[in-house]
Amino acid sequence: MFAVLSMNPPIADHADFAALRERSLIFSTLSDAELDTVMRLARMTHHGARHVVFREGEPGDHLLVLLRGRVKVSLISAEGKEVILSLLEPGDVFGEMALLDGEARSASVTTMEDCAFLTLGRGDFLAFLQRTPGVALKLLAALSRRLRATNELVGSLSFLGLAARLARVLLNLMQQYGRIGEHGIVISLRLSQEELGNLAGVSRESINRQLRAWVDAGYIDISHGNIVVKQADALFREALSN
Ligand code: CMP
Repeated sequence: MFAVLSMNPPIADHADFAALRERSLIFSTLSDAELDTVMRLARMTHHGARHVVFREGEPGDHLLVLLRGRVKVSLISAEGKEVILSLLEPGDVFGEMALLDGEARSASVTTMEDCAFLTLGRGDFLAFLQRTPGVALKLLAALSRRLRATNELVGSLSFLGLAARLARVLLNLMQQYGRIGEHGIVISLRLSQEELGNLAGVSRESINRQLRAWVDAGYIDISHGNIVVKQADALFREALSN
């Protein structure tokens, strides 16, 4: 895996910063002057696909903002089993927990495609938060949203059967990444069956069996590696079953 620091590390691109304000919940309320401050403090980094940005348990002294690409946040057991807690999008911030509570990284973060990040050091970020209460409030809102999503994940892993869990994952992905295609709604995010299983807490073999059953029933199709949802109502029914 390779990591490339930009040629002039402290300076990131103006277009990236403008996009940051548009896309990021946390930075959406920044004034031009505040955005300039972030620009001066931040460094820009790039990583190719499947790069481990950091691992659970490592010390953490910086926060990252995803500018381009997608990353997964996951827990990985000693035997190498993975549970995906979240998929993050451009504008999302991560690595804030270790800065806020001073503990080690709570999860591992891995790139799923080519990614660009802004990196802010602990001291700079905490000072910026204190000077900019609007950003602190937005950060709290983002943390609440994550906690809700995690509650949903724990609830679904504890109370639901395989089909309902997988149907919920597919419906969530459809909502986030779906685009209208000729034969249904195409989930335009390439995930291996293993990753799909790690999102639903199900083995790859079981995922394969369930997906094939839904293809046979006409609920979904798999085209060029993408899942196409043909009968969302049938998946909703599955999601409500247990
Ligand atoms: P930190 O603990 O510093 O490093 C891992 C990061 O993953 C963490 O900060 C959060 O930014 C992110 N993270 C941890 N748990 C979750 C979760 N349940 N949902 C979404 N993001 C998370």
